[in-house]
Amino acid sequence: MTDVDLIAAAREAAELSYAPYSDFAVGAALRFADGSVVTGTNIENASYGLALCAETVAVAKAMAGGVRGGLETVAVVGPGAAPITPCGRCRQVLNELAGLGGTDPDILCVGPQDVKTVKLSALLPDAFGPASLD
Ligand code: THU
Repeated sequence: MTDVDLIAAAREAAELSYAPYSDFAVGAALRFADGSVVTGTNIENASYGLALCAETVAVAKAMAGGVRGGLETVAVVGPGAAPITPCGRCRQVLNELAGLGGTDPDILCVGPQDVKTVKLSALLPDAFGPASLD
């Protein structure tokens, strides 16, 4: 799957967003070394602070399906005028899965006009991860 297709998958995931409180629909798509793709979208809650971000939902789906590494690329699509980067908690959640497979994924932060590509290690330098417990 190309980056363009991955971004389209994230956009499609955002259509299933449950965000009645923020009205801010986010979609995420994870691409793995074997070519598989897992998507997620944000799921909010009447107890506002319990919202689950799109990236976290995607990681949870992947790991619940047995995935334990190989994360190469992440596309994140928000509804705003500028690309969004994963929130701090999602950076840490992504780092756990990436760390299991020893990858440093590209994060494609998708806006209406442009795509900003950053490495996860640039978003979360000196991260605490699985290897930190060795
Ligand atoms: N959100 C995400 O899904 N991913 C992010 O990286 C940033 C924020 C969601 C959480 C909440 O449902 C909404 O966007 C507004 O913050």
